[in-house]
Amino acid sequence: MCGCSACERCLPYRCTTRYLAVSRLSCTAAGSVITDYRPKLQLLCLAGNREGFLASKRRVAGKIHVLIIATGSVASVKIPLMVEALSEDDRVEVQVVATKTATTFFKAEDVERMSEGRCQTWTDEHEWSSWKQMGDPILHIELRRWADIVLVAPCDANTLAKIAGGLCDNLATSLLRALTPKTPTYVFPAMNTCMFEHPLTAMHIATIRDVIGYKVMGPQMGKKLACGDSGAGAMTDWREIVGVVKGRADDIIATYTSRPLEQNTV
Ligand SMILES: Cc1cc2nc3c(=O)[nH]c(=O)nc-3n(C[C@H](O)[C@H](O)[C@H](O)COP(=O)(O)O)c2cc1C
Repeated sequence: MCGCSACERCLPYRCTTRYLAVSRLSCTAAGSVITDYRPKLQLLCLAGNREGFLASKRRVAGKIHVLIIATGSVASVKIPLMVEALSEDDRVEVQVVATKTATTFFKAEDVERMSEGRCQTWTDEHEWSSWKQMGDPILHIELRRWADIVLVAPCDANTLAKIAGGLCDNLATSLLRALTPKTPTYVFPAMNTCMFEHPLTAMHIATIRDVIGYKVMGPQMGKKLACGDSGAGAMTDWREIVGVVKGRADDIIATYTSRPLEQNTV
């Protein structure tokens, strides 16, 4: 938020993503020019955010809808690169959900820029600011309706433990808990070697793989980690993660093209 008068005018419309774009526009316009932008600003706000994120309006026929969940691992710095690589593929639509700590490692603006404005980063703030009364869309439900495939990349030790235990205290874990088990879900653990070798980690991975049915890929072994340690724990290379989606895209698109929103069946 830049705090200029145009931004304040934007607030009654509960603008989020478009609000940022408008803020930049207003700031560069500066002073008296702001008045000239007001009609455009209000139109943008009303069109973009009154109804929040609705899966039925955001799904694009013939595309694969990829939801990346980023958690508080340093590997989240790769999120903008993943978004860019996925967005370059005409078959792919991508959205990002980030935990509070994940937002430390990348900027929502970079995600937006790398996808030419098509991909947004959704956080707990959006979950709660977009629901005001009965009938308003519930973000974690709309995002899970939207998604054809979910990548938890990177999945840190904390979120891994929460998923394995069934906890759902933020947008990311509520969405995962509300996801139909048939939606293909890939988990890419990323953590310090000692965290990975902690006995609970193997138990959590076994639970999410064998009980929930998620596919677990990685971590990489014997790599130098960001913390300076060497060993197991680094997230699978981000290009390989992008490759998982591209490898399954045609298959998933064919299955989902005419699916009812609630029934992911691949
Ligand atoms: C700089 C930094 C890097 C971190 N990297 C990791 C990591 O790679 N893997 C991990 O499991 N935790 C890592 N953590 C710890 C998590 O961020 C922490 O457990 C946090 O509570 C996770 O919250 P979340 O799962 O809601 O994102 C890191 C913490 C810091 C400060």
